[in-house]
Amino acid sequence: MKDTKNQLSFLSVSLHWLIAIGMIALIAVGIYMAENEAFSLYPIHKSIGVIILGFILLRIYWRIQNGWPVALSDYKPAEVRIARIVQWLLLIGTVMLPISGIMMSGAGGFGVSVFGLELIAKNPDPVNAGKVIALNPTVAQIGHVVHSWGGNILIAAILLHLIGAIKQKLLYKDGAMARMLGKQV
Ligand code: HEM
Repeated sequence: MKDTKNQLSFLSVSLHWLIAIGMIALIAVGIYMAENEAFSLYPIHKSIGVIILGFILLRIYWRIQNGWPVALSDYKPAEVRIARIVQWLLLIGTVMLPISGIMMSGAGGFGVSVFGLELIAKNPDPVNAGKVIALNPTVAQIGHVVHSWGGNILIAAILLHLIGAIKQKLLYKDGAMARMLGKQV
């Protein structure tokens, strides 16, 4: 079933919440492990990050098929514009974060695996045991910068999105939140 104005499809609702929860968890774990050098968390973060990229790409395909959800009230033009900018930031952020992570780890020589299944091989340094040699330091560096900045931009976009959703619920009371939970409005 496709999205309609009054009800979103099961796939739209499931992908929204799966990706929302996944991204928030990955941001929290990412910041924690980077700040505390918790290296044991890196493989889990990377594995879930690669898996979630599959769902993100499916969501983009589904969004192209369905278009944006139709507004339920006559929102102010400025509100619509801000909401659209934030939605684009979220969409771009969800794609850029995993891709930059893969660039950073893969080109950095650290390798990328999904729960043990190797996608990009590690490139160990034959001289310094336990160290790796970057396959492409420039790509790895770009990936690192985008991953760090992207994380901050994504946090800001998620907060703005949340504020918008709360405002919609309290001010317009138009059922947009219920619709996002799969209910018919
Ligand atoms: C899919 C969504 C993802 C999100 C939301 C995410 C988010 C984050 C965040 C916020 C950080 C902390 C950045 C910092 O403070 O410098 C981080 C660190 C990291 N992420 Fe991700 N990440 C994702 C996917 C991936 C993927 C797919 C990989 C690799 C395959 C990856 C590899 C890493 C690594 C290696 C670090 C540590 C960087 C460091 O030690 O400086 N991430 N991630």
